[in-house]
Amino acid sequence: MKIIEAGDYQEMSRLAADYISGKVRSSEKINIGLATGGTPIGTYTKLIEDHQKNQTSYTNASTFNLDEYVGLSGDHPNSYRHYMNEKLFNHLDIKKSNTHIPRGDARDMLQECLDYEKKIAECGGIDLQILGIGSNGHIGFNEPGTSFNSNTHLVRLAPSTREANARYFESLEKVPTKAITMGISTIMKSKEILLLISGERKREAFARLMENEETENFPASILRNHPQVTIVADKAALGNNSWFL
Ligand code: GLP
Repeated sequence: MKIIEAGDYQEMSRLAADYISGKVRSSEKINIGLATGGTPIGTYTKLIEDHQKNQTSYTNASTFNLDEYVGLSGDHPNSYRHYMNEKLFNHLDIKKSNTHIPRGDARDMLQECLDYEKKIAECGGIDLQILGIGSNGHIGFNEPGTSFNSNTHLVRLAPSTREANARYFESLEKVPTKAITMGISTIMKSKEILLLISGERKREAFARLMENEETENFPASILRNHPQVTIVADKAALGNNSWFL
């Protein structure tokens, strides 16, 4: 794993956006895996700025989001489809039909899982997967205990994840209890992974990721086995762990 240290959140966002836009410019066609949450917002803002300033075009790009809440339709303000449209897609020249997010309101959610996994494979797999990390080590919505062999599947959200995400909802009760997420195996099939870690809140998770223990109790630990992972972490997340660098 390669680690890039950023001074603060802004620098982390700029470095991550430069990395992504560089790949987009140098690829004839690219499939990008996208994450939600608070961490990548700055990166998406920088990608929009770059698109406006340098005309980086996304007509060659397709995107696949990691996850979606079960029970929310794409136009619900708390859905990840809404988040992605608002924070990124509406401001780029990407074709909406090339942006894929699991449907949280599909009539048959099990079929939706199979279809999503199939769509990623049919499009040729993910070239660059952007990831955040939950404080309990979750990636996507793969909570501790998820099998490393999992494909896109339905999950019950951990109480700590619902609490962490409650800040985006009117109240904790409104946070859905289930989600659909790419599995750990789906994520590991990506050719390359860019993991963003920011803030003191993530310091413990980051330190645990760097420990040499691979365990399903800390889903992100599997990333140590991926041949092409770059981590962009800010100082607050690194803390006194700078000796890793
Ligand atoms: C959410 C998302 C993850 C994200 C994580 C961290 O639950 N499903 O994809 O990486 O939590 O979120 P944040 O960046 O807000 O800390």
